[in-house]
Amino acid sequence: MRLDKFLTAAGVSTRSAASKSARAGDITVNGVRVKDAGMQIDPSNDTVMLHGQTITWREHIYVMLNKPEGYVSATEDSRAPVVNALLDEHDAARVFPCGRLDKYTVGLMLLTDDGELSHRLLAPARHVAKTYRYHCRDPLTEDAAGRMREGVHIEGGYLTAPCGIEIITPTTGNITLTEGKYHQIKQMFGAVGNEITALERLTFGPLTLDGKLERGEWRYLSDEEINALYAAADLKKIKNTTDI
Ligand code: URA
Repeated sequence: MRLDKFLTAAGVSTRSAASKSARAGDITVNGVRVKDAGMQIDPSNDTVMLHGQTITWREHIYVMLNKPEGYVSATEDSRAPVVNALLDEHDAARVFPCGRLDKYTVGLMLLTDDGELSHRLLAPARHVAKTYRYHCRDPLTEDAAGRMREGVHIEGGYLTAPCGIEIITPTTGNITLTEGKYHQIKQMFGAVGNEITALERLTFGPLTLDGKLERGEWRYLSDEEINALYAAADLKKIKNTTDI
């Protein structure tokens, strides 16, 4: 793996900053100063230090993506572009989306190759909260919002669990769910005679969409974000790169 890629994946640098650090003599590999951030390293065996601090290799990749409209939450699809195609080739081959967003829903997506974390975060019993900004066709009345907060019947007669709704303007607001049925928000608005015209996911458990990411852009999660997800999934904390 390229050294600059390793430092980016560890969440401690960007590719351009890695080149600068290498030129400035701030990176060592197995104790030897390196000038070329494009050199190949073996992440499992080589010891990389940046500014005198050892950088740990992460077993898994954790990516936050600001999903654009028109992409499907899948690794492959013959009819539509997939979210994985927005990532680096190396990561795209490894990670999978943690949960689904509809093709026309935008915003926060977590992609990872950490199957255990993903499985636990998505387990219905864990009730991980997800907040979405909705835009709807007709003004949402307090009565309709109240019915949705308490639970409405959707496909198959399923009664939705209590949820949070914060009305911002008559046709926009935030809705927080702790479950994820197929097209759930669309169906819930349909159940009260309204219709979703746009949907953006803002949070996923402890993760909040990074406002610096444009649609279609992504970044690796920080140690703090990964640890917060681990805590939400009742898993042991990863070692922070700054703990070393
Ligand atoms: N509910 C929906 O209707 N669509 C999504 O993408 C997510 C939740």
